[in-house]
Amino acid sequence: MSGRNEQQLFFEDPKILPEDKKGVFHWFPFHAAFSSRFVQSVIEYELTLNSNLTLFDQFLGSGTTAVVSKLLGVDFWGSDVNSFLVKLAQTKVITSLVKHQTTSILDEVCINYEPLPLNQTPEVEVMSDKAKCKLFGLKQTIENSNISEDQKKWLLTSLLLITREMVGEQRGTNPTWPKSYGGAEDKELIPLFREKALTLLQDIQTMAYQSSSVNITLADAKNLPYESDKFDLNITSPPYLSRIDYVINTLPEIILSQGASKEDIYQLRKEVMGGVVINKKGENNPDWGKECLKVLQNIQEHPSKSSANYYYWTYYDYFHDLWETLKETKRVLKKKGRAYWVVQTSYYKEIELDLPKIIIQMGSSLDMKGEIVREKEVKNHLGNLHPDQRRRVPNKVLRESVIKLIK
Ligand SMILES: C[S@@+](CC[C@H](N)C(=O)[O-])C[C@H]1O[C@@H](n2cnc3c(N)ncnc32)[C@H](O)[C@@H]1O
Repeated sequence: MSGRNEQQLFFEDPKILPEDKKGVFHWFPFHAAFSSRFVQSVIEYELTLNSNLTLFDQFLGSGTTAVVSKLLGVDFWGSDVNSFLVKLAQTKVITSLVKHQTTSILDEVCINYEPLPLNQTPEVEVMSDKAKCKLFGLKQTIENSNISEDQKKWLLTSLLLITREMVGEQRGTNPTWPKSYGGAEDKELIPLFREKALTLLQDIQTMAYQSSSVNITLADAKNLPYESDKFDLNITSPPYLSRIDYVINTLPEIILSQGASKEDIYQLRKEVMGGVVINKKGENNPDWGKECLKVLQNIQEHPSKSSANYYYWTYYDYFHDLWETLKETKRVLKKKGRAYWVVQTSYYKEIELDLPKIIIQMGSSLDMKGEIVREKEVKNHLGNLHPDQRRRVPNKVLRESVIKLIK
């Protein structure tokens, strides 16, 4: 049996199944998350080769890798550019909450809560004045309470996880793009908050965590706050080329989490990889490899409106960031360190974007040996929701691949 087939059998499917949606893994409906079973299978495989692993994930998202590392007792470092997701992941791995103390803290915060006067709230989008006064009022009550940092994280995350409901977010057929906000002005905050906080507390307390360390920070994957040659292992899933806007997908939560103004949101949308806001224009780089340059050329020459002057640059931007991220990944990995990346193919119009192949070629330019260790077809995906996409490539099938790169 070839190496690939052996590993294919060993590694679990990254796709989330209904039975995975429980406890801390089910706190937030994050469309882009991979399964804890997949992460566990990769770590367990790597532990057979090295029992003293250090692991990082630079696109941490909802924190799946952090939780599984802590369950398996592996030291972990994680980061993301989304402040809400960072807080969410940090809360999932808290081990210091003692039930009888924490429930009395919750009671006290609920009693002390007062809505903030409108003139003391920040200028933000998405929230009605009424919702804004309530949400920022409770946030301030929590922040001003005389409690531990972990207790604050638990309560702030509970508040963030009811924000969607409090601002009346509505979604249509696309699960990653909200349709509208509003109509929830009279919703009562405290009963919702109390229920959420108790659920989170129960979920955290049922986790059989080990004593390994977990370090989670806000950071850009292109510029990681770690010294070189630090890690044995990287397990991650970068944003795909499917133009999901992770900022818009978590807009109310980011706004509350950092009091983000319209301008802050715009800057963040430029910073995230794979978004729709163009950040930079420049020359493409031969080191990005043949497949990447071919795709860029095909997009530039595509006859449809906006291909050359808008879409080309969003893809250029993505490949630029992907290359910078790979360089940074190599820098922080130890020699012979391994990176497992979950990625999918996608389409621009009828042009196939073979992201797994592009990453392997970029890795090769960086002297990292790459191979696909698991692969499968994805039939139900966002690309099949759009009528224009269905017309261009009927019955489109994408591939999800797990790539392994070795430094
Ligand atoms: C596919 S998701 C990761 C999902 C994760 N594996 C999980 O299980 O939840 C990609 C993540 O990359 C983050 N991201 C996008 N651009 C980034 C950047 N420049 N630096 C760090 N994180 C970034 C997004 O906020 C998003 O959370």
